[in-house]
Amino acid sequence: MANYNIYFSPTGGTRKVADVLARNLWGEYANIDLCKEVSPLSLSGDDVCLVSVPSYGGRVPAIALERLRNITGNGARAVLNCVYGNREWEDTLTELQDTLETLGFRCVAAVAAVAEHSVFRQFATGRPDADDKAQLAAFSKRIQERLDANECADLNLSGSHGTYKVFNGTPFKPMANNDCAGCGLCARECPVGAIDAANPQMTEVEKCISCMRCVSICPKHARGCDAQLMEMLAGKMAPALSGHKSNHLFL
Ligand SMILES: Cc1cc2nc3c(=O)[nH]c(=O)nc-3n(C[C@H](O)[C@H](O)[C@H](O)COP(=O)(O)O)c2cc1C
Ligand code: SF4
Ligand code: SF4
Repeated sequence: MANYNIYFSPTGGTRKVADVLARNLWGEYANIDLCKEVSPLSLSGDDVCLVSVPSYGGRVPAIALERLRNITGNGARAVLNCVYGNREWEDTLTELQDTLETLGFRCVAAVAAVAEHSVFRQFATGRPDADDKAQLAAFSKRIQERLDANECADLNLSGSHGTYKVFNGTPFKPMANNDCAGCGLCARECPVGAIDAANPQMTEVEKCISCMRCVSICPKHARGCDAQLMEMLAGKMAPALSGHKSNHLFL
């Protein structure tokens, strides 16, 4: 029997939540990072996976689904974890459940948890905080009981199955300014290969999924989106992104 912590976390918020859940579920586990290419993996019915993704426009990021499709469940159990930036997650968990079931997983539990918004960092700042982590640890204990009972729950998730909310991406694509030292880190770390290592100041906008990984890791703080556009969008989004949103457990 093996345990796997599988996550897509461009800026680390999803990973923070995943790590709290995984540490409290298991003593030992292997990490699989969906921001990189994933080698084909065939699991067994004894295995358990925690699969964590951020919500992008109420959906699972397409590249995370594409890489998950390299893993075959063969009856392995899956705990689903959707991390959202204080607005809503809509069809993220149902899309993840549908995909995992198609891949041969048995979905036994799901979490929707809040993390700091990776684009508009003034919302949900600092989350998951100490209270979130204590609550997530308690969620893990309840999930563990479900796993020990070897029950395959009929997950009753909010969101629709099969037909999902349409998300056509975002208009903001980061570029580098003249502070760029040309180190190539952003090009190596971009999950979708949208930055040319030979010319990292430019971003291939058709490929870019606006995940903000390049912005968060640039050692020169040289990457960013159009400031005026971001200010306008932040103002527009503020009512939906403000206030304290909760973490949810589905068993
Ligand atoms: C392109 C994009 C779309 C997003 N859409 C949503 C959304 O629909 N609802 C929401 O609550 N948060 C949304 N967020 C915020 C992320 O879900 C949240 O910040 C998450 O923690 C990011 O994961 P990461 O820190 O692992 O990169 C979005 C973020 C990005 C980059
Ligand atoms: S990480 Fe920053 S400094 Fe390095 S190439 Fe990218 S934009 Fe330039
Ligand atoms: S170029 Fe786009 S997809 Fe690549 S890391 Fe930056 S924001 Fe993410």
